[in-house]
Amino acid sequence: MSATRRFQIAAIPADGVGKEVVAAGREVLDALAAGSAGAFAFDWQEFGWGCEYYARTGRMMAEDGLEVLRDFDAIYFGAVGWPGVPDHISLWGLRLAICQNFDQWANIRPVHFLPGVRSPLRRADLSRADLSGAGDTDLDWVVVRENSEGEYAGVGGRNFSGRGPGGEVGVQSAVFTEVGCERIMRFAFDLARTRSRPKVSSVTKSNAQQYGMVLWDDVFRRVARDYPDVETESVLVDAMAAKFVLHPEDLSVVVASNLHADILSDLGSALAGSLGLAASANLNPERRFPSMFEPVHGSAPDIAGQGLANPIGAVGSAALMLEHLGLPGQAARLHAAIEATTAAGVLTRDLGGTASTGDVTKALIDGLSI
Ligand SMILES: NC(=O)c1ccc[n+]([C@@H]2O[C@H](COP(=O)([O-])OP(=O)(O)OC[C@H]3O[C@@H](n4cnc5c(N)ncnc54)[C@H](O)[C@@H]3O)[C@@H](O)[C@H]2O)c1
Repeated sequence: MSATRRFQIAAIPADGVGKEVVAAGREVLDALAAGSAGAFAFDWQEFGWGCEYYARTGRMMAEDGLEVLRDFDAIYFGAVGWPGVPDHISLWGLRLAICQNFDQWANIRPVHFLPGVRSPLRRADLSRADLSGAGDTDLDWVVVRENSEGEYAGVGGRNFSGRGPGGEVGVQSAVFTEVGCERIMRFAFDLARTRSRPKVSSVTKSNAQQYGMVLWDDVFRRVARDYPDVETESVLVDAMAAKFVLHPEDLSVVVASNLHADILSDLGSALAGSLGLAASANLNPERRFPSMFEPVHGSAPDIAGQGLANPIGAVGSAALMLEHLGLPGQAARLHAAIEATTAAGVLTRDLGGTASTGDVTKALIDGLSI
């Protein structure tokens, strides 16, 4: 028998429902490994970083946290943020600290409709023929988010001119580099070539933002010339928001800046049925650092601790992690288990069901043996 492949995974559940969905994801992954007849296994190390850690220590993660994380094969993350800690402190102190320092410049956010889940696009009063293509099986696109610069570069200042209350000034600059734009666009084009519809839609706002976004457009046009087999379009972000709703069937790979993709991918996951379904991967494609896998949603303080959290976004993120670790067949098994679970109507409250986080987790594990 060949030796077991062991993967060292750092788990950072962090705050709120992050704890519940990471626990669920770990259970599903361990069940997958247990059924692999020793082919692979996960060695977990959990880190209790987040807002409670901040309350005790004044830091969102240990001082040597990045050094500790560096040697792991991957990071499995929950969500960060809790009332009492300003969101910009919690986000920059943990999630963005990891993304930026580990150069996880490509954030992948797939969106597709699941059987048994009702999209808000499917209005009860419309027949299927009236849905502008928004049926429940034919929508499938990936938002590729530039994850290292743009509007989240952290460049700016507040009250730098010494003005007092009532006269303060805040400046938040967006940073676009040719290298940063080019690498995310090539990533998007390479991804498009693997899909049934090889198309890349670039999201821009170059009509109003004449520096960074014009550079973005120039690089998009230049990179596109190297991929003549890939269909392209460039769409203003406001028009793209409308297109997500009205013509989602026309999308395959959507490449966008940090802020634009952040917003559009939430819209995409809401259209697929719930924010709780959306998975994501923060990739360092060169593999110089570990990549991080996390659901798109936040810590959801409104439902945390009640067993209401939908674990599917976290489990879908685990599937992206398996692909990254070189286990695409196992990732496909997770996707199949997700589809079997929703098709069977085992749905949490956000999807109109009554199942608990634990019920869905159990159904996902049962679905692995189908
Ligand atoms: N990646 C991250 O860690 C991340 C992302 C977004 C927001 N946040 C943080 O999370 C906190 C709450 O932010 P928010 O309320 O704007 O966004 P949120 O994603 O936490 O919640 C938005 C809505 O979606 C619901 N929801 C989210 N996840 C769900 C799940 N798994 N199952 C069922 N319903 C779910 C919530 O109940 C809420 O109604 C803030 O502190 C924010 O900064 C963190």
